[in-house]
Amino acid sequence: MNIMVVGGGGREHAIIKKLKENKRVKNLYALPGNGGIAHDATCINIEATDLDAVVSFAVGNDVDYAVVAPDNPLVMGLVDRLEEAGIPCFGPNRAAAAIEGSKVFAKNLMKKYGIPTADFRVFDQLQQALEYVEQVPMPVVIKADGLAYGKGVTVAGTLEEAQGALRALMETRVFGESGAQVIVEECLTGPEVSVLAFTDGETVVPMISSMDHKRVGDGDTGPNTGGMGAIAPNPFYTPEIAQQCMDTIFRPTVQAMAEEGRPFRGCLYFGLMLTPDGPRVIEYNCRFGDPEAQVVLSLLESDLLTVMRAVTDGKLAKTPVRFSKKSAACVVMAASGYPGKYVSGEVIDLPAPVAEHVFAAGVRLGEGASLVTSGGRVLGVCAVADTLRAAVATAYERAQEIHFDSAYMRTDIGARAVAALEAEQ
Ligand code: AMP
Ligand code: GLY
Repeated sequence: MNIMVVGGGGREHAIIKKLKENKRVKNLYALPGNGGIAHDATCINIEATDLDAVVSFAVGNDVDYAVVAPDNPLVMGLVDRLEEAGIPCFGPNRAAAAIEGSKVFAKNLMKKYGIPTADFRVFDQLQQALEYVEQVPMPVVIKADGLAYGKGVTVAGTLEEAQGALRALMETRVFGESGAQVIVEECLTGPEVSVLAFTDGETVVPMISSMDHKRVGDGDTGPNTGGMGAIAPNPFYTPEIAQQCMDTIFRPTVQAMAEEGRPFRGCLYFGLMLTPDGPRVIEYNCRFGDPEAQVVLSLLESDLLTVMRAVTDGKLAKTPVRFSKKSAACVVMAASGYPGKYVSGEVIDLPAPVAEHVFAAGVRLGEGASLVTSGGRVLGVCAVADTLRAAVATAYERAQEIHFDSAYMRTDIGARAVAALEAEQ
């Protein structure tokens, strides 16, 4: 089979490594992939958002199956275009991807179907939004409706901050049309959990739970990033909470999307907060999380291609999806300065024995097949072990063996989860 994976980050590298385990895979293409992915797939220099070029590559190269991993091409309708060209895909079509593409759509869906989430109001007029936040308690959360590179959310501690965020989104339009509508919502508290779930539009199979580390600095300080590390499973997500989420969030969401005529097929990401009043949805994503995919797929024991095909074919109910009982950790090595300005083009010293545990993100090929940094998040260094403590320790040991000049990583990935686990014992 010829398989094409659209995207070029650490998440796509994790997907590709897993797909490669299937012996039926003959050619594996990554569009555009990256310098590290080039070790495991044939990278084709086509951007994920260049829909015409992606479709014509797929048709011209007899691609049998496509996996569309990033949010942008999904929201733009790449899956619809590929399916029109006769190529089966893993990933939601445009109508279903709206669950991430429009936060207003997602919030209204939850309201209509009684799915627990933060209370909210929607605004399309700046003045009304500015006046509204004068009346609400702080902190308050301001969200852009549309995609914003993961940066469209502000948790505002003061009125000035809230109004500043509203002006930036609605007046300055820092994220363009994504700020045409904004959501002002109640600020919730509690541990955050990411649950990725396979769904074929009817059956929903949650994967092992995980925890992202979104802030750039130790102790969850500094600005939000795409994610500085992840662990799985998430110790705050007990079997009782999992059952509650299945009954009040996962199944109702999948049914709601079907009832709306937008059946969701692919990986549906539930960003949850475990509040004192029970689990609440913070956000939906229409795809695997990054870096959650790196830890979750490291623990997947079933064949990924088989599960993905079952999702596409509506046969998930009959397909076993098994996870290891072990724990996984992923530490992101970034270029220092990220998520602000950072340097690129530094040579990466990545010894072969650790390379097999590394998922490449901001990496390109340099001279003589050397690896060179080309993005903010450069590498995700992973480990699987019997305990979470051991997985975290091994991931950090591996990271110590990797070098590039401006390398930066958090030193406390998994620390809170390990402490919570060990406090229980
Ligand atoms: P998002 O871009 O939707 O993932 O949001 C980024 C982060 O903002 C989340 O991971 C939470 O930490 C935080 N956040 C979003 N919504 C809320 C909320 N209603 N209450 C508290 N924190 C929130
Ligand atoms: N790690 C969060 C995300 O992928 O959106």
